[in-house]
Amino acid sequence: MISCTLRMKYKPLFSFLIALFLTFTAYAQGGEQANVGKEGVTAGAVEAQAGGADAALASAGDALFKNNCASCHALDEEVVGPALRGITQKRPEAWLISWIRNSSKMVQSGDKEAVAIFNQYNKQQMPSFAFSDDEIKSILAYIKTAPAGGSTEGGPGAEGGAGVAQATSGDAGEVGKYLDLLLVILVVVLIVMVVTLLIIATVLKNYLNKNRQLAPEDEELVNPKADYMSVLKTPVVKGLAITIFILALLNLSWNKAMSIGIQQNYQPKQPIAFSHKLHAGDHKIDCNYCHTSVYKSKNANIPSANICMNCHSQIKKESPEIKKIYAALENNRPIQWVRIHNLPDLAYFNHSQHTKVGGVECQTCHGPIETMDVVYQYSPLTMGWCINCHRETPLNTQGNAYYDNLVKLHEGQDSKAPFTVVSNGGAECSKCHY
Ligand code: HEC
Ligand code: HEC
Ligand code: HEC
Ligand code: HEC
Ligand code: HEC
Ligand code: HEC
Repeated sequence: MISCTLRMKYKPLFSFLIALFLTFTAYAQGGEQANVGKEGVTAGAVEAQAGGADAALASAGDALFKNNCASCHALDEEVVGPALRGITQKRPEAWLISWIRNSSKMVQSGDKEAVAIFNQYNKQQMPSFAFSDDEIKSILAYIKTAPAGGSTEGGPGAEGGAGVAQATSGDAGEVGKYLDLLLVILVVVLIVMVVTLLIIATVLKNYLNKNRQLAPEDEELVNPKADYMSVLKTPVVKGLAITIFILALLNLSWNKAMSIGIQQNYQPKQPIAFSHKLHAGDHKIDCNYCHTSVYKSKNANIPSANICMNCHSQIKKESPEIKKIYAALENNRPIQWVRIHNLPDLAYFNHSQHTKVGGVECQTCHGPIETMDVVYQYSPLTMGWCINCHRETPLNTQGNAYYDNLVKLHEGQDSKAPFTVVSNGGAECSKCHY
């Protein structure tokens, strides 16, 4: 009875509130989806499968392509393998699926087209990919629909932009997620409050109407002539709208502010498709073989083309990628590697202090480099990141006379806490700032 009257009288208000609520839940979910990183790829593919939406399919394919194919293929230019635009018209889908899954099996089986393309590319073997049909279809959908010069590997000009677009921050994403959640909770609480007030008002009104003789002026107050539009102008609704607007604005600018200057996941395309997975992973070449100064000095050097030549004067001489190294040497021009990690000038970081003295593994800061075909920035490289590790990492003071007195002093103050980098002054501003 009450809810019925309520619905009749305040229908516009209700629709407004429900619409608001739905908008905000959708908004919050949208934010979360944007925060899904590489792990989201398979989820995306599954979703695309269910919905059958072309755009979702292509965007799942976009991510798969970037992570697995872009080191060797671009859409509009030859990289290591052929340019792939138009491949879905050139070859049947079934052919493409079995090629991508295991190209060498097709070559061995004597498939004419497979043998021809294999020979054309100097018998280089494309790796096999254990993808499902749907995953491969999503890659093909991406190849079919990607715009020319588009986001992924549209050519040298597009690279910088694509890289920067990827440079989202994990930390800011986390914070953003919580803010989104907070927003939704706030909106729900506000709605519950409004509804409760309305119910109380209606119950009171019904009570007054039934049980009291009202004076005419009170009658007007309790049962005003229905004016739906005026509901929208009530202070409650206005206040609600303004509050939500301000919160949304705050959320947006907070996310923007937190991601300034943070380049986590930055993965630019390099001028030569050099793979750490192949060299440091599969062939187990020591980091130190190429980054020769990393245990000795402040900077880790990027190897010169001469170091590559130690091997590539013999290995894979005919590969188009290796020919780029020869070209660099012949023209006496260094290879223009794109720098990935870059602290601002105001901060001082020293590799040997960490790798040699501190005994910190490269992977602790740079992630699983030996599995990366294309290197990306694994850690946020923020001040908070540096100091957190300094707080948590105990110093190896064993057998080092330099530390003996310091450790004793420290144990005198607080015997339980370990002697960390911070105990040794690793949080002092001047240690990291010039
Ligand atoms: C390590 C380099 C490498 C990677 C990674 C790679 N490819 Fe290839 N791809 C090649 C090479 C080289 C060829 C040329 C044929 C040959 O030599 O085997 C080729 C050929 C192809 C062809 C046949 C083109 C034609 O004209 O018939 C397709 C299709 C293809 N690749 C798709 C893909 C897809 C999709 C991925 C990602 C899932 C991928 N490739 C990943 C190197 C690679
Ligand atoms: C065969 C030589 C070679 C080996 C071995 C090697 N690297 Fe590299 N590394 C390079 C080259 C060339 C680059 C620049 C191109 C690139 O970023 O892929 C590079 C780039 C990097 C970068 C990014 C530098 C930047 O621009 O910020 C890091 C980090 C790195 N290597 C770490 C490692 C680690 C850790 C290992 C051992 C697990 C290792 N490398 C082994 C040659 C090598
Ligand atoms: C210690 C030996 C060694 C050094 C040094 C080395 N490489 Fe390699 N590289 C290899 C081996 C082994 C392979 C794999 C060859 C194969 O797959 O048959 C390879 C493969 C490659 C490939 C893939 C070639 C293709 O077309 O399949 C590229 C590109 C490459 N190296 C670039 C470089 C660059 C750039 C440097 C210098 C920064 C470098 N390499 C230094 C041993 C080395
Ligand atoms: C404690 C964290 C940490 C460890 C451990 C570490 N790095 Fe780094 N690395 C960094 C930071 C931070 C930068 C960015 C430095 C800058 O911009 O001045 C960097 C940059 C680099 C670069 C780019 C060139 C340069 O010096 O700016 C290479 C290459 C590199 N690291 C390789 C390595 C290798 C190889 C190891 C292991 C032997 C290693 N790093 C261990 C944090 C680390
Ligand atoms: C993974 C852990 C880790 C990270 C991340 C890390 N450090 Fe360190 N840092 C250490 C350790 C361990 C030592 C102690 C080395 C020693 O003296 O034994 C150290 C020492 C230092 C020192 C010398 C402190 C002193 O008391 O002499 C400086 C300066 C420094 N780090 C700067 C940085 C900067 C800048 C960053 C961020 C870009 C950073 N560190 C990130 C582990 C880390
Ligand atoms: C362990 C190393 C370390 C210590 C200790 C440290 N910083 Fe930093 N600081 C950094 C690094 C690395 C950056 C650059 C990364 C960034 O912009 O987030 C930075 C950035 C900054 C910035 C610039 C922030 C920006 O957004 O551009 C200021 C200001 C700053 N630090 C002040 C301080 C003060 C004050 C202290 C002492 C209380 C201090 N730092 C101690 C490593 C350190």
